[in-house]
Amino acid sequence: MEVVPLSSVEEVAGLAADAIEDLVRSRPSAVLGLATGSSPLPTYRELVRRHRDGSAPSYADVVCVLLDEYVGLPPDHPQGYRATIARELTDALGIDPARVHAPDPADPQRAGAAYERLLTELGGVDLQVLGIGSDGHLAFNEPGSSLASRTRIKTLTERTRADNARFFGSVDDVPRHVLTQGLGTILDAGHLLLIATDVGKAGAVAACVEGPVTSQCPASVLQLHPHATVLLDPSAAADLSGLAYYREVYAAKPSWQHL
Ligand code: GLP
Repeated sequence: MEVVPLSSVEEVAGLAADAIEDLVRSRPSAVLGLATGSSPLPTYRELVRRHRDGSAPSYADVVCVLLDEYVGLPPDHPQGYRATIARELTDALGIDPARVHAPDPADPQRAGAAYERLLTELGGVDLQVLGIGSDGHLAFNEPGSSLASRTRIKTLTERTRADNARFFGSVDDVPRHVLTQGLGTILDAGHLLLIATDVGKAGAVAACVEGPVTSQCPASVLQLHPHATVLLDPSAAADLSGLAYYREVYAAKPSWQHL
């Protein structure tokens, strides 16, 4: 795992955007795994800014797959993750909505297996953007999720529903059920790019990076992946005991070695 402590949210967003653009330049038909939530938003805004500048690669042939989706919202609900990602990123990058996929909340019983088939047909995810929940959840894999899990329905914890209440009127409006890629599904992606930029994430980041690999901290599964990058602003990095070493490693990184 490469842990990259950076000086600001802007620096995190710039580096994450570089990694995504580098991939799309080298593989125009890349399969891009997208996360929702607030952590990736500065990165998405940076990608849109570069696209409007004219300096970005073409996204016309990219395919996007979402990590997760709420179950039980009306199809046109603005907080549905499909609607969110279209609004925050893919529409602005000119990506055809038909090339953006998510687990189907209209058929939660079959959606998991169908989504796994789709990911296989697409040839797998090249780069997966990830956030982390304050309880260490990854996508919507709450503590206790099998480290080998595949896309399926999950029940949110009260803590996650409370965390996400800011996107809804109140916690009562946050759905109880979701569909989420499993931890095993996420591990199949070629490159995992975790973004954490808030002091509320410091404990979860430390558990993910330096704690034991355990289903009690689902994000710790990143330790099993051969190419996982963790981009942190100072507040999210605050609880890491190896911080000085991670800084030294990044400062001394060979110029030929990309993220
Ligand atoms: C949400 C999403 C995750 C996200 C995480 C953190 O509930 N399902 O994909 O990474 O929780 O969200 P945020 O970035 O808003 O803190």
